[in-house]
Amino acid sequence: MEVDPLRSLKGLFENNKKWADKIKADDPQFFAKLSKQQAPEYLWIGCSDSRVPANEIVGLLPGELFVHRNVANVVVHTDFNCLAVLQFAVEVLKVKHVIVCGHYGCGGVKAAMENKAHGLIDNWLHNIKDVYQHHRARLDAMKSDREKLNLLCELNVIEQVANVCHTTIVQDAWRRGQGLAVHSWIYSIENGLLKDLNHCVTGTEQIPTIYRFSGEAKPAT
Ligand code: CO
Repeated sequence: MEVDPLRSLKGLFENNKKWADKIKADDPQFFAKLSKQQAPEYLWIGCSDSRVPANEIVGLLPGELFVHRNVANVVVHTDFNCLAVLQFAVEVLKVKHVIVCGHYGCGGVKAAMENKAHGLIDNWLHNIKDVYQHHRARLDAMKSDREKLNLLCELNVIEQVANVCHTTIVQDAWRRGQGLAVHSWIYSIENGLLKDLNHCVTGTEQIPTIYRFSGEAKPAT
């Protein structure tokens, strides 16, 4: 009986076997070691875009990069998915670096810049519309839509880095004296290269006063 191609995805399993064989050829103990522990130094928060594969861009192997991806690499304070990843990465895995990595030409950022409706995702992209509104003067001064989009992609990274730093998770880590740097990076699909936006936050004193928390959480009285 012929296998229904919709159910089997045979090609992907063949690829998987080749991939595992190649890694084992380089290091026969690789998977045995990996199954015993996970100790990545980095948390990557990036876009879901299929052209931005986190591990591959930075040449890291499985086990070396903890990853959270969503449309347009947004960090929202009520998103328990992202917060759970951040908390586990910082408090349990004790990563030393959180990298928020956007990419030029991001479809999510582009959609947020437009007025066309896309359905449920418009609620998610609302966060990026807020970034636009916040930086409207700079964005509206751009000469072309392409420049405007790319600037908004960069500004979105900076804003999401701020959102990471404003969490109690990151501030508690700093208060405990845990070294943690939050980096702003952007990737170009056109040439495969990363760019550091040179906005790296390493302590509570570097964030605006209103977002700072002064001590361990206590019930409000
Ligand atoms: Co994107």
